[in-house]
Amino acid sequence: MKIIGTGSALPEKIVTNDMLAGFLETSDSWITTRTGIKTRRLLSKETLGELAITAATAALESSGVAPENIDYLICSNVANSYVTPSMSSIILGLLGCNCPCTDLNGACAGFIYALDIADAFIKTGRAKNILIVAAEEPSRFCNWHERETSVLFADGAGAVVVTEGEGFKDFRVTADTHTDVLYYKRAMEATPYDRVESKTTPLVMQGREVFKLAVRACIKDCDIILEKNGMTGEDIDMYLLHQANLRIIDSIREHLEQPKEKFPTNLQKYGNTSSASIPILMDELSRGGVLKDGMNLLLSAFGGGFVTGAAILKWSSIDYPEIEEPVHEPAV
Ligand code: UT7
Repeated sequence: MKIIGTGSALPEKIVTNDMLAGFLETSDSWITTRTGIKTRRLLSKETLGELAITAATAALESSGVAPENIDYLICSNVANSYVTPSMSSIILGLLGCNCPCTDLNGACAGFIYALDIADAFIKTGRAKNILIVAAEEPSRFCNWHERETSVLFADGAGAVVVTEGEGFKDFRVTADTHTDVLYYKRAMEATPYDRVESKTTPLVMQGREVFKLAVRACIKDCDIILEKNGMTGEDIDMYLLHQANLRIIDSIREHLEQPKEKFPTNLQKYGNTSSASIPILMDELSRGGVLKDGMNLLLSAFGGGFVTGAAILKWSSIDYPEIEEPVHEPAV
């Protein structure tokens, strides 16, 4: 399986650390030194569905695959205002696709989980062209009266089209039950038989625990997938890691003893966009000409559950149709 098209979309609204410090007990220096985040994009005027469609349309256009030739659509999403229908159902018809579709909740590792499933569908001949859209609005389930989570998360969408061909070498996806370190509980309707009050609990996160679990798990995933494929950290040209925290990325980089240039980041501008973070970064790097034909890439992400995903692939460059303006600023 290989990636033949990418796209991404971010909300218009830019929110700086200083803007948050205006109503939360926090500061630009705390957020910057603890996370690396300087600004983030938050949904205000747009809907998540609109972002998903913009990202998916750009991915389809760059792939050259017509919407009606997509055989399967997977949307990676943790939560949005609809429990049903799925986000994939909402965007399917608007894109002009006519195929089965489903949502997948692999938390921040959801994009890699979706790629892994797409790879299995393509290998078994169940599908030829698959559209994966990661669309996330974690800002809508943070508690905006608490500084612990609301300074970290942000909204965005990234998409890829995958098809048959040489590209992905291997996947490693893991899951381990740690449901207490990162969760968001949604209220359910009352019934005559269950009178326990059902309340929404905005995102709860034990930051330090998640940090430790993330570093430990991602290092393990990288070591195992590299060794299994007879590779070392040297053989990877670029690491596209989940954009949660610069210190997490640095810890993984230090373990792998690889130079900073191999670890592109955009969390400084966009914050943590959950499962959309890797496809947004990938789209920026690919459109910016940073990802070159034949480069070996390692993707790695972690998320609530606790789940992780890693993948190794050889990149094939993509010819993007001419556009008047870049979709958004390039990654640093
Ligand atoms: O996609 C997965 C999502 N989750 C993550 O990736 C989160 C992983 N964890 C982290 O990134 C880090 O743990 C955080 C950035 C969340 C926190 O950094 P930390 O270095 O682990 O700080 P801490 O939680 O140990 O808190 C240190 C202090 C505490 O005050 P005291 O107890 O030392 O007085 C916190 O109350 O910083 C305080 N604090 C804040 N201060 C200013 C916590 N949040 C903030 C804040 N602004 N936003």
